[in-house]
Amino acid sequence: MTDQLLIIDFGSQVTQLIARRLRELNVYCEIHPFQNVTDAFLAEFRPKAVIFSGGPDSVVREGSPRPPASVYQLGVPILGICYGQQVMMQDLGGQVEGGKISGGGGTAEFGRAYVTPTEQRLPFLDGWFEEGREQVWMSHGDHVSRLAPGFEVFGTSPNAPFAITADPARRFYAVQFHPEVHHTPNGRRLYENFVRQAGFTGDWTMGAYREEAIRKIREQVGDKKVICGLSGGVDSSVAAVLIHEAIGDQLTCVFVDHGLLRLGEAEEVVAMFRDHYNIRLIHADEQELFLSALEGVSDPEVKRKTIGKLFIDVFQKHANSIEGAEFLAQGTLYPDVIESVSFSGGPSVTIKSHHNVGGLPEKMGLKLVEPLRELFKDEVRALGRELGLPDSFIGRHPFPGPGLAIRCPGEITRAKLDILRKADAVYIDQIRRHGLYDEIWQAFVAILPVRTVGVMGDGRTYDYACALRAVTSVDGMTADYYPFSHEFLGETATRIINEVEGINRVTYDITSKPPGTIEWE
Ligand code: XMP
Repeated sequence: MTDQLLIIDFGSQVTQLIARRLRELNVYCEIHPFQNVTDAFLAEFRPKAVIFSGGPDSVVREGSPRPPASVYQLGVPILGICYGQQVMMQDLGGQVEGGKISGGGGTAEFGRAYVTPTEQRLPFLDGWFEEGREQVWMSHGDHVSRLAPGFEVFGTSPNAPFAITADPARRFYAVQFHPEVHHTPNGRRLYENFVRQAGFTGDWTMGAYREEAIRKIREQVGDKKVICGLSGGVDSSVAAVLIHEAIGDQLTCVFVDHGLLRLGEAEEVVAMFRDHYNIRLIHADEQELFLSALEGVSDPEVKRKTIGKLFIDVFQKHANSIEGAEFLAQGTLYPDVIESVSFSGGPSVTIKSHHNVGGLPEKMGLKLVEPLRELFKDEVRALGRELGLPDSFIGRHPFPGPGLAIRCPGEITRAKLDILRKADAVYIDQIRRHGLYDEIWQAFVAILPVRTVGVMGDGRTYDYACALRAVTSVDGMTADYYPFSHEFLGETATRIINEVEGINRVTYDITSKPPGTIEWE
């Protein structure tokens, strides 16, 4: 068993960033909502250190969230952040006062602040205050007004005299600010000092994760059968390969080909999973079904609904052909899980349903297998590499569930889809040849519902116009267009027009998001 750190979640918006920082330090951690952390839970989990997250409540309010008292008796280091600091102080005999939010004399603090050290030193603060003060991010109404016995002050800010406090003998640390956020630039160092204090050696690796995940899958599934929807995207691919490694032929993957995939994509998925990995794979070639249902449809939302509904029907039909399946595998990631932990709700964790299998587990009476639910996106990629998936799969740009349907504004026809596929392949080839693929978050061609006049050779052409799209982004929520050189754009336009029959005009979309969206529909 790896040493594990427990994060008790009191509902902060940024709790997942704490986990993120710890994993960067190769420390294994799990986030659990405070309601779930009981004496029995602690006894079983046996954390080597505990972190109390921030939270929106006020410890001054009766009935506000608390950890069980036994957490202080574990003899392990504890770090309290913001609300977590206040909880710790009040639980251990200090005092917290409700803050005035604004107006003269208030003690609330939101945003950037600067912490300066007191006279005393502490290993927890190694690497801090080397240049006098540290920028931190504050977000609190209440504040600690009297320290609990055993605690001392190690850092102060103008509005938080107890910005950094600690009881060094018990290895309890409590800070008023959020070291996990980007705006506390040196925050990572505090986490590093904390986990070293706790004795973590930073030995958590993807290899260790893989072994542990395989053990857990075997334990959960036993000798039963598992169905996994494969889309060719990173998450479902990694989940499938991992589960296959654990249970071999007890796994069957279903790959729904809706006719809206990119050039050669279906063949690639089949070659990779059936031929290379020897995974049992149902290639559900349902192109006709989807494309006929989409005939005459031009409204983007109707397109999405039509595709979504058919997807579920088709998936279910093929999944039903696998006799005796009891589990459905999903590539749910950690941020999905955390997002769906309700702060005030009961102890159970609701899982965000994936767009492509939404509601299916309940409908089919299947239990879920989610081997990636503890990982962040880049960790899934690292695990994929560990499992031998090629970089061309792992580094892939995201691709929407409705596929090319939403890159073909207006009516979808087979002829237009064929043209779009070819143009997209040339564009992506250009991006790869110029070594730009990994710098770009997502890139694709949209075929426009207009034909324009051109001249090629001595003849007049009347063909489709297309738009190239390439954006940089962190999470797809906001995006900026990629600043290709004119040379690149010119060369790409020439190649598309020369190599793709049916297109005689190429434009580049320079809209950011907002106000635009990444896709055209
Ligand atoms: P937009 O166009 O909303 O896209 O800026 C943001 C990200 O989401 C993807 N996207 C979708 N993914 N089903 C999906 O699975 C959809 O209906 C859908 N619409 C947009 C888009 O490709 C981009 O990565």
